[in-house]
Amino acid sequence: MTAAGERGDRAAGRQGQGPRSEVEPSGDRMQGRAESDGTERVWTVLDLLRWTTEHFASRRIETPRLDAECLLAFALGVDRLQLYVAFDKPLSRTERDGYRSLVRRRADERVPVAQLVGRKEFWSLPLRVTADVLVPRPETETLVATALDLLPDRDAEARVLDVGTGSGAVALAIAHERPKARVTATDVSAPALEVARSNAAELGLADRVRFLPGPDFEPVAGERFDLVVSNPPYIAEAVRDRLPPELAHEPRQALFAGPDGLAVLRVLAAGAGGVMDPGAGAAFEVSPEQAARVADWCREAGLLDVTVIRDLGSRPRVIRARAPGEGAS
Ligand SMILES: C[S@@+](CC[C@H](N)C(=O)[O-])C[C@H]1O[C@@H](n2cnc3c(N)ncnc32)[C@H](O)[C@@H]1O
Repeated sequence: MTAAGERGDRAAGRQGQGPRSEVEPSGDRMQGRAESDGTERVWTVLDLLRWTTEHFASRRIETPRLDAECLLAFALGVDRLQLYVAFDKPLSRTERDGYRSLVRRRADERVPVAQLVGRKEFWSLPLRVTADVLVPRPETETLVATALDLLPDRDAEARVLDVGTGSGAVALAIAHERPKARVTATDVSAPALEVARSNAAELGLADRVRFLPGPDFEPVAGERFDLVVSNPPYIAEAVRDRLPPELAHEPRQALFAGPDGLAVLRVLAAGAGGVMDPGAGAAFEVSPEQAARVADWCREAGLLDVTVIRDLGSRPRVIRARAPGEGAS
């Protein structure tokens, strides 16, 4: 028996159930090859989840069970939680075929689950995700929370700028939480802006969010905002070879920002004051080791109340600041 066969057998709960030494390599196991008596093996939802979890774990995928559940739910066209009341449901060959190709792409090509299913939930909003945008990350919810804190009045008619909007995650979460805010979302990537636009339309927010192409603050030259936010690319090119393989499926310009990862943050910290009204707020996502430097740049640029906000994992994640004037201390 091959190592892969052994793992597959154990995951399918077959230990000690008689001779299955002729098992195929892992991927084919899901095809429902015939049992020794000629009948086709029945695969239930739970069998497949167990098998895939083990398979993903053996490939060092970080969240093997969760990924298996998301992909199986997607393949079957049901909610993930619905799997839990269908553990004993036998799956047809067609259902298994669709699932198997997703499993292969996840395990072998390391395509992120969000890209395989085309969706990702962020701030409880369902967002469409393609290979043209960064998959919104949970830590970016700290940026949204900070932004909302800077706009405490839910009914204020605020003007908000989101630089580097990607899928629109941050811009749309703010527009959703502040029903009178008008949000400008920019990006250097035209395909990303298309995805963001479609998300705004799906969420019924298109009338309050405008999308502008271009880098940094160029698309909004001469305008002023009450809040400026950004989750820019901030990974150093130098560490590219040491990153998880999943990142190869996301757009380069969404991830990397020059040799030290600070190319865009440097421009944002220096230029934010130029597009902020007196007392306006600013919030920039950073990687933890960049926080102190970016905070210093904000102070040097004349911003006040500069604070480093930690994410749920207690890592420095967002630089929060105010423009001088009304509201700043
Ligand atoms: C890290 S992703 C963030 C996407 C989204 N805001 C989120 O939080 O999920 C950064 C985005 O900024 C865009 N971008 C990169 N450099 C930029 C620049 N100089 N000006 C504006 N957008 C930029 C990328 O195309 C990408 O969509």
